[in-house]
Amino acid sequence: MKASRTPDERQVFATPFGGGLAKTDAMDAAHSPMVLSAQRVASAVLGRDELRLAHCKATAVAASRVARQFDPEMAEALLAAAWLHDIGYAESLAATGFHPLDGALHLARGGWPDVVVRLVAHHSYASVLAPYYGADHHLAVIDPVPGPAAEILTFADLVAGRDGGGSTISARIDEMRARPRSDDPVPAEVREARYRLLERTAMRVLRSTPSGSNRTDHPVELATFR
Ligand SMILES: [Fe+2]
Repeated sequence: MKASRTPDERQVFATPFGGGLAKTDAMDAAHSPMVLSAQRVASAVLGRDELRLAHCKATAVAASRVARQFDPEMAEALLAAAWLHDIGYAESLAATGFHPLDGALHLARGGWPDVVVRLVAHHSYASVLAPYYGADHHLAVIDPVPGPAAEILTFADLVAGRDGGGSTISARIDEMRARPRSDDPVPAEVREARYRLLERTAMRVLRSTPSGSNRTDHPVELATFR
């Protein structure tokens, strides 16, 4: 059973597009050619991995809910990166074995905008894990994107839930913490440190969202991406 959502978390998940929020650049961006292209690439690469694709879709939806302060270009890049952030899990893209980097390398080869490549490469504090996958030297030559876009991607990655069904921040981190780790090269204390970073960042983003909805029964609204 999922943990209760805070009022701010409920707001992120409760309001369908056009159902109370002002129309925003982020919502327009959801239908931009770049974001639709990202959706197609994610679907093609992750097509057989339905749960991961659903997670990516929900990540894009959650990001669009809170990405209201961006200009259209950054909103597009953020939503594209949300769709694409986990494509590096696909076996067909495996190069280094570190999924943020493998995804980013694929996108760079495909000519995706630099900011999308950088968001994917560094999503959700990838740099903390990279040394344990032998990927830190590669990642070090890709600059992170400073500012709120990367933070919103971190938030959206969490609240999308593992299967795209939505999650609270705390429930998602608990779920990550409880996963079997027999072949994980990352030491437990490093994993814990990353969870704290994820939680702190996601809570900061959450606190920046408007609250007020009492609807708790509405899952992530996906209609805009269909
Ligand atoms: Fe993810």
